Amino acid sequence: MNPTKPETQVEAEGTTRMSRDTLSVTDNRTGKAYEIPIQHDTIHATDLRQIKVNADDFGMMSYDPAFNNTALCQSKITYIDGDKGILRYRGYSIEELAEKSTYLETAYLILNGELPTKSQLEEWIYHVTHHTFIHESVKKFLDGFHYDAHPMGMMISAIAALSTFYPEAKDIFNKESRLRQTYRLIGKMPTLAAFSYRHSLGMPFAYPDNDLSYAGNFLNMLFKTSELKYRPNPTLEHALDVLFILHADHEQNCSANAMRCVGSSHVDPFSATAAATAALYGPLHGGANEEVLRMLLEIGSLSNVPAFIKRVKAGETKLMGFGHRIYKNYDPRARIIKRVADGVFEIMGRNPLLNIALECERIALEDDYFVKRKLYPNVDFYTGLIYQSMGFPVTMFPVLFAIPRTSGWIAQWQEMLLDPEQKIARPRQIYMGSELRPYASIGQRG
Ligand code: CMC
Repeated sequence: MNPTKPETQVEAEGTTRMSRDTLSVTDNRTGKAYEIPIQHDTIHATDLRQIKVNADDFGMMSYDPAFNNTALCQSKITYIDGDKGILRYRGYSIEELAEKSTYLETAYLILNGELPTKSQLEEWIYHVTHHTFIHESVKKFLDGFHYDAHPMGMMISAIAALSTFYPEAKDIFNKESRLRQTYRLIGKMPTLAAFSYRHSLGMPFAYPDNDLSYAGNFLNMLFKTSELKYRPNPTLEHALDVLFILHADHEQNCSANAMRCVGSSHVDPFSATAAATAALYGPLHGGANEEVLRMLLEIGSLSNVPAFIKRVKAGETKLMGFGHRIYKNYDPRARIIKRVADGVFEIMGRNPLLNIALECERIALEDDYFVKRKLYPNVDFYTGLIYQSMGFPVTMFPVLFAIPRTSGWIAQWQEMLLDPEQKIARPRQIYMGSELRPYASIGQRG
């Protein structure tokens, strides 16, 4: 958001012209002039509707496939400056949060707008921790999936199914109810994720351990075997917590947009979160971390990197984990992740694919194709290497994105619900199909 513009502006020496926060538009079809208000460097799309050739015209629309230049909402949650590589949650820099905060504290900040006091944090952690168990019936239908079912598919279904266990979640304008569903969603996501993973291994489910931290308990549910008490490695627990902080929100991305769009129909938050999770599953979004690892495995060795980059430049494939709609600079999360990776590799051993990743980055950052298009490593470029070193199978990578992003999705959903300017999302189209034509019976076709 920009500060208010000055009222006047010096145009040339000695001349002063009044400056107004409006846009003057002349429709050359009719010669009519219009003055459209500007606020925050933005015009309201519906102000274009007054621009018509005839009184019964629909009025002018703006055409913006993939929302390249359309602000969907006013938001106070996350700030990104893509050119400078800045990311902030509620005004706090991602670097400072990653260094000083925890995931649950950051989730509280994202959801409530302020960092919690000590007692608020204790209460928040208590409630999230005491909503980690899932109904035994959820386990039964998780059991119905094939052993090789993708865990994201299992997650999407399981999250949607939670809406049937908590029908009161439909009471979306009740603050208490929203808070209860928030505890449930944030508390149960790691449990659903871990149970999906254990199902794929054919291992018995490990129940939540409420003595452990959010990340520590997740590791417990994933990796506990016969020991009486699972004790997470503190470095890995901390690394996972930092990764959760980095993934907690990212303003109006594809899945946040899905959450807002589906939520705008006033469906319950479990159904909307299932939709957001489905959006995240795609390889251009949260599924990219999985694709990066597959790509590095396909490249296979340092000597194959130049040939691979050549194929990318020829448009035959993409350098996964590179490029971003908003960042035209190094993704600040990728920088922090590189540091986290060092800590994990110290304990688990250096991931042999790291050298291939570093070589791809080195070549890409010097190559004209990438430089011209401002393609830099994004959050997904290095996360896969860390996850793999921590023992996660590739299919779990997008799940590790979905768990922390839940706090961002709920914050976006809640902001949308409480915004008096928002309504059910319903874009327009430019119809390019046939004019009215008579129905042809089957014998007359073709
Ligand atoms: N490798 C090679 N070329 C690329 C890449 C890439 N990873 N990303 C973009 N380009 C090229 C693209 O072909 C286009 O070239 P040209 O102008 O010659 O047609 C140009 O760069 C602009 O790209 P775009 O597709 O118009 O950009 P976009 O804003 O629509 O797409 C993106 C953004 C993230 C989908 C895209 O960069 C991409 O597909 N990256 C790989 C997938 C990926 O890593 N996704 C994770 C994103 S970060 C985490 C998240 O949001 O979930």
